[in-house]
Amino acid sequence: MITESATLPSVVILSCSLNPQSRSHKLAIAAETFLRGRGVGVELIDLGEHELPLCGTQGSFDHPNVQLLTGKIDAADTILISAPVYNYDLNAVAKNAMELTGSGWKDKPVGFLCAAGGKASYMSPISFANSLMFDFRCHVIPRFVYCTRPDFTDEGQPGPEIVQRTEQLAAAAVDLARGLAWARANPV
Ligand SMILES: Cc1cc2nc3c(=O)[nH]c(=O)nc-3n(C[C@H](O)[C@H](O)[C@H](O)COP(=O)(O)O)c2cc1C
Repeated sequence: MITESATLPSVVILSCSLNPQSRSHKLAIAAETFLRGRGVGVELIDLGEHELPLCGTQGSFDHPNVQLLTGKIDAADTILISAPVYNYDLNAVAKNAMELTGSGWKDKPVGFLCAAGGKASYMSPISFANSLMFDFRCHVIPRFVYCTRPDFTDEGQPGPEIVQRTEQLAAAAVDLARGLAWARANPV
């Protein structure tokens, strides 16, 4: 249970869909609303509004949007990725953002909010999670939110069950970041 706002970690939610009707973006909004309500410092970054160069193109790391995003990832205590599932993986926008921002992810808790077309792709975030663990020793939260069309209301809003799962993930990200901060301050 989150109670003391003075000691709460900060959260960045990276919304990676470029679709204006994105369902994963709606999960990102639900997570942001929940965290704000609990007094957590949270920033929702919609990559649909911050065009990024492809990683490795000339000057890509010096691009102002990349510098801005890198600063925000660096400053975050925990990161939630909301993303579409494309070809049994997260979309290329998510991968590109991770490549561009690199070591800012190091040792941080990371959670996944995914939207997909069908239920069969539910293990799709695993390869992205693996690269975060291998490259940056991220603490991947073992609770993925995975949604498809039936998880949304007729009005296109996330239904109660998927909202609840989103809130559980957001709370777990904060709790894990808090636990890690305590452990770092009190080494064995
Ligand atoms: C190029 C492409 C590849 C896709 N691949 C998959 C897939 O492998 N598995 C799946 O369940 N849905 C797949 N989908 C469907 C999307 O995951 C679905 O439309 C989802 O809502 C996209 O997320 P968004 O609404 O946040 O943009 C794919 C869609 C596109 C455009």
